[in-house]
Amino acid sequence: MRARFFAGLSLVASIILHGSVWAASPAPVAAENGMVVTAHHLATQVGVDVLKAGGNAVDAGVAVGYALAVVYPVAGNLGGGGFMTLMLADGRKTFLDFREKAPLAASADMYLDRDGEVVPGASTDGHLAVGVPGTVSGLQYALQKYGTLPRGKVIAPAIRLAQRGFVLGQSDVGMLGMATQAFRKDAPSAAIFLQRGQPYQAGQRLVQKDLARTLRQISQHGSAGFYQGPVARALVSSSQANGGILAQADLDQYRTRELAPVECSYRGYGIVSAPPPSSGGVTLCEMLNILEAYPLPELGFHSAQAVHYQIEAMRHAYVDRNSYLGDPDFVDNPLSRLLDKGYAAQIRSKIVKDKAGISMQIKPGVAPHEGDNTTHYSIVDRWGNAVSVTYTLNGAFGAKVTAAGTGVLLNNEMDDFTVKVGVPNSYGLVQGEANVIAPGKRPLSSMSPTIVTQDGKPLLVVGTPGGSRIITAVMHVILNVIDYGMDIQEAVDAPRFHQQWLPDTTFVERYALSPDTRAVLESWGQNFRDSGYANHVTAILIGAPKSGGEAVGNDRYYGANDPRHNTGLAMGY
Ligand code: DON
Repeated sequence: MRARFFAGLSLVASIILHGSVWAASPAPVAAENGMVVTAHHLATQVGVDVLKAGGNAVDAGVAVGYALAVVYPVAGNLGGGGFMTLMLADGRKTFLDFREKAPLAASADMYLDRDGEVVPGASTDGHLAVGVPGTVSGLQYALQKYGTLPRGKVIAPAIRLAQRGFVLGQSDVGMLGMATQAFRKDAPSAAIFLQRGQPYQAGQRLVQKDLARTLRQISQHGSAGFYQGPVARALVSSSQANGGILAQADLDQYRTRELAPVECSYRGYGIVSAPPPSSGGVTLCEMLNILEAYPLPELGFHSAQAVHYQIEAMRHAYVDRNSYLGDPDFVDNPLSRLLDKGYAAQIRSKIVKDKAGISMQIKPGVAPHEGDNTTHYSIVDRWGNAVSVTYTLNGAFGAKVTAAGTGVLLNNEMDDFTVKVGVPNSYGLVQGEANVIAPGKRPLSSMSPTIVTQDGKPLLVVGTPGGSRIITAVMHVILNVIDYGMDIQEAVDAPRFHQQWLPDTTFVERYALSPDTRAVLESWGQNFRDSGYANHVTAILIGAPKSGGEAVGNDRYYGANDPRHNTGLAMGY
């Protein structure tokens, strides 16, 4: 199952992703007043326009969130959920959790048949896979509390893109093409994303009139335009007519949670990242705490010894991730232990310099979860407010169903829960008790919108999609900036590797390891599997193109879009 998942990922990668990222990198995109990096060029343009019009990074972040729901339907959404890590110019740090929730009628065994076996596809496809959407609540919460512009102004660009349509590029068409079969099975999706049953071609215009109407409802009524009234009624009736369990009561009770971010330090820099119900910040900090005592800069970028220590740090941190974490309203997350530097020292004492750990001997536990598509965007404004957002439908196009009449594609986030303890879910993953389904509970996530600080000010804004590989990709970018002195584009471009405890193998991108480095590591017991590209990092470095470097002229913001994906864009002004 897992092999199939990663094979599938490579296929997707070959359709939508570029291949040539390993040569010298172009200079980061530089600008004086602000920077926006998103996975779609039209959404980036919307964000820059909002900044130019005097909006702050939160205004731009909300506008981008709505715009991506139109121009990047594979992951941008109104029908999903996500996280925003926020650092304000005055030094305040906060985190908005607008993750989907299990509907009130959900139960721990809802995806099992009468014999207690998992029903294939039940938690991934169709209306029963849908969690209560959080995105609109989250974007509105952010705007009301931390934004400055009126709602109508930040939603207008998305309405325009939906109403008038936009011209599809080859990579837009490639993404839509991944779901042609699924769209054919869902009439409301087919009516939008297919033309008389056939896929769109590059150069054609995608118009989404229903989505424009839904966006206008939100523009007029705020969250109530989505969670109440005609849109809500359409969401509920679509679900109930198609085997789902979404009820008006679920929409009534949905609230964005404002939480304290997870924080730790790495070689004097501050790390501000996602707390539970994400595993991202905890796992990232645990890996960095383990690595801090190793002389990575002296060992050299991707030397056998440095790679070995990083793989072992990943292996140990992911065991804990898989065993202990879940929605903090439902389970106690042992954060103080997992984030403790003394605990990291204990782990280091178990890491042998020239011998790979054996995952099953470290501790029996459970394996992590990945999905197919998600998106991250990073924004900084002229005042120094920094916004790091990852949001998702979970799989590409989520449950691949649209609520009739709304234009809203729905998530399949329920599959991030433990469908059955001890039994692999549809991705071949086995998860634990802390993450079982309960009414109103949020499923465990890997999404890691992160801000790295220096002297109390934001230095790096970073995040990515990629399921369980999100956390290690964010770690690589941080190490590349702090330990290896790369500029932000080099740090994003550099090849990555990923270990997640189980399977007991390390996934390597092309050119990540030279043959002789790989041979040394194999002689220490490491084993490798070649992987496609799972991530699309969007990052901003503040102050200079590289940490400790010189600013270029008056430019203060340096953006990097991951070249692994050819729809994104870094743009400043
Ligand atoms: O929350 C999570 O961890 C997953 N739903 C994210 C899925 C994802 O990143 C897939 N992207 N490629």
